[in-house]
Amino acid sequence: MSIPVLTIDGPSGAGKGTVSRLLAKKLGWHYLDSGSIYRSLAIALLKQSVDLENAARIVDVAQAMTLAFECGDELIVKLGDEDITAQLGLELIGNTASIIAALPEVRRVLLQKQRDFRRHPGLVADGRDMGTVVFPDAEYKVFLTASSEKRAERRYKQLIEKGIDANLTRLTKDIEERDRRDSERATAPLSIASGALFIDSSDMTIDAVIGEVLALIH
Ligand code: DC
Repeated sequence: MSIPVLTIDGPSGAGKGTVSRLLAKKLGWHYLDSGSIYRSLAIALLKQSVDLENAARIVDVAQAMTLAFECGDELIVKLGDEDITAQLGLELIGNTASIIAALPEVRRVLLQKQRDFRRHPGLVADGRDMGTVVFPDAEYKVFLTASSEKRAERRYKQLIEKGIDANLTRLTKDIEERDRRDSERATAPLSIASGALFIDSSDMTIDAVIGEVLALIH
């Protein structure tokens, strides 16, 4: 019997991470944060000072990198022996991930790494192309979005809470730039998978979003 997958795609800052983690916990399923794979590659490239125009080198690094995900209360990610969890959320890393994610060869190399997360009893997969490319046969598909202003505001609050200096105008511009790049790239652009449940979370609480998704499953 095929292993059930719930895909949650959408733009940066729509709340996919929080919602997907909570849903995985409620359902007792595994969780794939596909963005963290692109982010980990971005960290590996910056550490090795790889020129982001050099696609062949980027693919070499993607093939060679070994990642380990430890799912406890919080997700811990190791690149080789190094715990890179704290670096994953940096704006520089997110923006670099979005740039290299536009390379078709990179996406090809990372495809199997993502599909390997599909294990019993089920998987919640969060990203941009989970329902369209990585798990097109998923039983349950959701597209979760929110206005760019709301997404920038949420990101701003998260950063300030963590004691990180942030600028709302700059964050809004970065989010819009990232949306444009992720949606306009030729390979696996952010798009709504056919049959996906569309949720605009701009004026919704996390609990309300989770309720809608659970209603889809049960
Ligand atoms: O979801 P995130 O913000 O952690 O993702 C970081 C970048 O990685 C995002 O801007 C585009 C890329 N990405 C992607 O292209 N495909 C995915 N499935 C997940 C992320």
